[in-house]
Amino acid sequence: MLISLGPQAFVPVTPVFLVGTYDEAGRPGIMPAAWGGVCSTQPPCLAVSLRRSRWTWRAIQHRRAFTVSIPDRALAGETDFAGLVSGRSEDKFRTLGLTPCAGDHVDAPYVGECPVILELQLRHTLELGSHVQVVGEIMDVKVRRDCLTSEKLPDAGAVDALTYVPLAQEYRSTGEFVARAFAVGKTVKRRGGEERQ
Ligand SMILES: Cc1cc2nc3c(=O)[nH]c(=O)nc-3n(C[C@H](O)[C@H](O)[C@H](O)COP(=O)(O)O)c2cc1C
Repeated sequence: MLISLGPQAFVPVTPVFLVGTYDEAGRPGIMPAAWGGVCSTQPPCLAVSLRRSRWTWRAIQHRRAFTVSIPDRALAGETDFAGLVSGRSEDKFRTLGLTPCAGDHVDAPYVGECPVILELQLRHTLELGSHVQVVGEIMDVKVRRDCLTSEKLPDAGAVDALTYVPLAQEYRSTGEFVARAFAVGKTVKRRGGEERQ
């Protein structure tokens, strides 16, 4: 039996993105964003949704660029802290002892300690209500060498990305391998009108 929880901003798990920007004064900042994900393959794009009150939103409007650094489980404390304090009043990179590295392709900093980095150029914004959706074109993806397989593919197990569980307000790390995508479906037997057991 399914129990209705009503209309809620909920899926069982979301990514945790550390959105990196330079503000108008050129100070680097980060904030975690859980409302976001990849939204186009060609051109490659990613969207995050931000409240208008975020210092980060102001910085993105000014510089028209941002980065997304993907934290691993070891960075849970730093990530959470960055969500409790605003860059308006505190240099979070400095407080947390994190390294602001200048983007190679966009005017925004990324977190040197994170295993996966995306550099994004602002392309679109969409007013949604409480949040503005910010769509960036992915100009580059960087993955730490030890998080690549021998075929140079990102190794999700090695990245050990932090994820977020809305409503329960928990961090979890990326789950274990289940099956290969676009492959396991081919082994499924078509059931037609058969009843599920
Ligand atoms: C796990 C987590 C996820 C968050 N996701 C979002 C989000 O998707 N959008 C948003 O506007 N704020 C989100 N926040 C809140 C901001 O990160 C927080 O208000 C932060 O202090 C803003 O920093 P800034 O003012 O320096 O931009 C989240 C906070 C946490 C801890």
